[in-house]
Amino acid sequence: MRHLIPSHDHRPSDDPIFALNREATERKAAGESVVNATVGALLDDEGKLAIMPTAARAVREVAQEEWAAYAPIAGSPAFLQAVIDDLFATEPEMKKSAVAAATPGGTGALRHAIANYLEPGQALLTTSSYWGPYQTLADEADRKVETFRMFDEAGGLDVAALDEALGGQLARQGRALVFLNDPCHNPTGYSMSDAEWRAVVERLAAHAEKGSVTLLVDTAYFAFNPRDPRAFLAHLRPLLGKAGLLFAWSASKTFTHYGLRVGALVACVPDDKERAATAAALSYSCRGTWSNCSRGGLAAITRLLTDPAMRAACIEERARLTKLLSARVHAFNEHARPKKLVYPRYEGGFFVTVFADDALARAQRMKDAGVFVVPSKGALRVALCSVAERDVARLVDALAG
Ligand SMILES: Cc1ncc(COP(=O)(O)O)c(C=O)c1O
Repeated sequence: MRHLIPSHDHRPSDDPIFALNREATERKAAGESVVNATVGALLDDEGKLAIMPTAARAVREVAQEEWAAYAPIAGSPAFLQAVIDDLFATEPEMKKSAVAAATPGGTGALRHAIANYLEPGQALLTTSSYWGPYQTLADEADRKVETFRMFDEAGGLDVAALDEALGGQLARQGRALVFLNDPCHNPTGYSMSDAEWRAVVERLAAHAEKGSVTLLVDTAYFAFNPRDPRAFLAHLRPLLGKAGLLFAWSASKTFTHYGLRVGALVACVPDDKERAATAAALSYSCRGTWSNCSRGGLAAITRLLTDPAMRAACIEERARLTKLLSARVHAFNEHARPKKLVYPRYEGGFFVTVFADDALARAQRMKDAGVFVVPSKGALRVALCSVAERDVARLVDALAG
């Protein structure tokens, strides 16, 4: 007699990315020369996790009472305010309307968005290339994922495809929740241009006249934007009060503390009554899932966001990491262009995707040669965040082979 409910009886037992990483690590430990471009964390050129020293110090200096005690259900007020102040440093109107709940990483924020902005059975809308756990999160919440073609023929964001898919969804569901992961989209590495943001917002605003449209910006890689990280917010102004506006904020990459599990869902809701209802719904969701986050983790990140000296030190340490990453991105572009690899405009960020019809077979051949990437249908995800600059040429050769 099996006791699992039938609909959960065939869940994949292991995340395929973690399985590939395990194999790469084992082969490296056995003495093989391996390039492991599967890890979604920033590693230094020696293959060790790059950790911002000031962030590590803030974690060490959290008092034991802070680690031991429960946090408030929706998160410590000082943490929530620090995230709102940080995100909306250049946007006073958004700041005034903001409400937030602490979540375990950006993942928790995505989970709360799905559960509170879609009815069971409804689908979120995202780009055709997307971070796999969007599907897992939707499955777990009995919601679905629908996609629009991400790139048009010119290689830019296919805003017309978004427009059409959104129209169809609104007609069917009466509401839509759009996930856009920008900047440094995982897995393609794409960052939208100002003109693309303007065009997207114009389409969302037009559809918001017909039904409930909510935009969630997944800002997991926000701090590694090669350009001004907050510039895109100005483009979102026309949506304030017209469409739902959500941000999945994460300390994982921002402060190189992935395992601390600190994040937040931030919502901009200008209407007072609706804002209070939003706060209550998000707090209720916290209680109904993880109850509350780690109080110690929230305290450490609050200090990093608000203590002027620590904040400045983090900005400097992060700039060094962004430079490390940029050198790899530059090396990738230099080597990949002459080899005619097909990939989106890549200016920075943890990942890039190389398109290849034979992606699965190619990834297998690369793996045999000791170069690990993550294949999916028609594409290979390359985590440059985990590859030393000196290994980029070998990686590109393998991709082109
Ligand atoms: C696109 C994207 N969104 C969200 C996350 C969430 O990460 P975390 O839950 O660690 O903040 C990740 C992590 O890899 C990601 O790649």
